[in-house]
Amino acid sequence: MTENKEIIVIQGVEIHLSHKVGSTQEWIGQQEPLDQLMACWLTLSPKDKPLSPRIIGVPGMGKTSLAMAAARRRNQDLYIFQCTSDTRPEDLLVTPVLGQKGSIMYHASALLTAMIRGGIVVLDEGNRMPEKSWAALASLLDDRRMIESIVAGINVTAHPEFRFVVTMNDDSSTYEIPDYIMSRLQPAIELPFPGQDEEMRILRYNLPESPEELLNICVGYLQEAHDLGLPISLRDGLHIIRYAQRLNTISQSSWKEKFLQATSQILGPEALDLQKLVEKRKLEDQEYGGDPEMGDFFFGDEPPEDSGPLGKG
Ligand SMILES: Nc1ncnc2c1ncn2[C@@H]1O[C@H](COP(=O)(O)OP(=O)(O)OP(=O)(O)O)[C@@H](O)[C@H]1O
Ligand SMILES: [Mg+2]
Repeated sequence: MTENKEIIVIQGVEIHLSHKVGSTQEWIGQQEPLDQLMACWLTLSPKDKPLSPRIIGVPGMGKTSLAMAAARRRNQDLYIFQCTSDTRPEDLLVTPVLGQKGSIMYHASALLTAMIRGGIVVLDEGNRMPEKSWAALASLLDDRRMIESIVAGINVTAHPEFRFVVTMNDDSSTYEIPDYIMSRLQPAIELPFPGQDEEMRILRYNLPESPEELLNICVGYLQEAHDLGLPISLRDGLHIIRYAQRLNTISQSSWKEKFLQATSQILGPEALDLQKLVEKRKLEDQEYGGDPEMGDFFFGDEPPEDSGPLGKG
């Protein structure tokens, strides 16, 4: 291999590399999943291979942030590949692009660049990607640690420092991943809901300028939602606080009122009464036997009620 900044020559083929992601993401609290991820990436002997875990959990609870924070802690370059239902096998590896003089240039994906550079790749929202794309990664995710790009006509073996993690959402807009791939994405690292103190510290870290009263109202709300098993996330909480602070520039009402308005506009009026939301969820579960999405609860046709968990105190 000969190297020239962002272009590298592999088996006679010029490959343009992707750019790494700059990340300042700190991980607050929730030490266990971070320790588990760091442990997966260790090698215990010269012949040992790192594990390629999957981080699973409710959308918006910190899966991508956890992976980014772990990469930062290992002091390695980070590459993120966003998976979608349109991701084709070659998108994961090499994309041919027509150059100015009609020549073909080969662009390495974030994943392939991480393999070449010895970085960390986060395959984000991996279960949005169809099975045939996963198939292209089978040889990378076992002891061979290599891939073959048919388009560029190259084989690449991963740098020894290359590390892999995939994040997966617990929602229904996803594909079933075949067993032979699941058996390579081990172990599962679950991201639980944070406790009250942790959640407060996470919100404060992300929004250090927010008033304590607003943070407290929001943490109380999120904790109640977590206890009830509702998928209302930290990201939702962060959006609500940001919007409530903006409402504060246009009205004189209390923080609680601003919080309620922001929650209603962000999650829908039904999110103001969490107990009722749970009941509705149970009913729909009985009716359809499925796992309806949050949208079905938040944007249903029932009128909002004024009293809710927040109306009480
Ligand atoms: N432990 C934590 N420390 C610091 N910030 C956190 C933590 N957990 C979550 N966050 C913050 O919560 C927000 C949502 O996190 P993130 O985007 O990582 O969630 P996600 O699970 O990847 O969501 P999605 O499934 O939608 O991709 C981010 O702004 C992130 O900074
Ligand atoms: Mg994410």
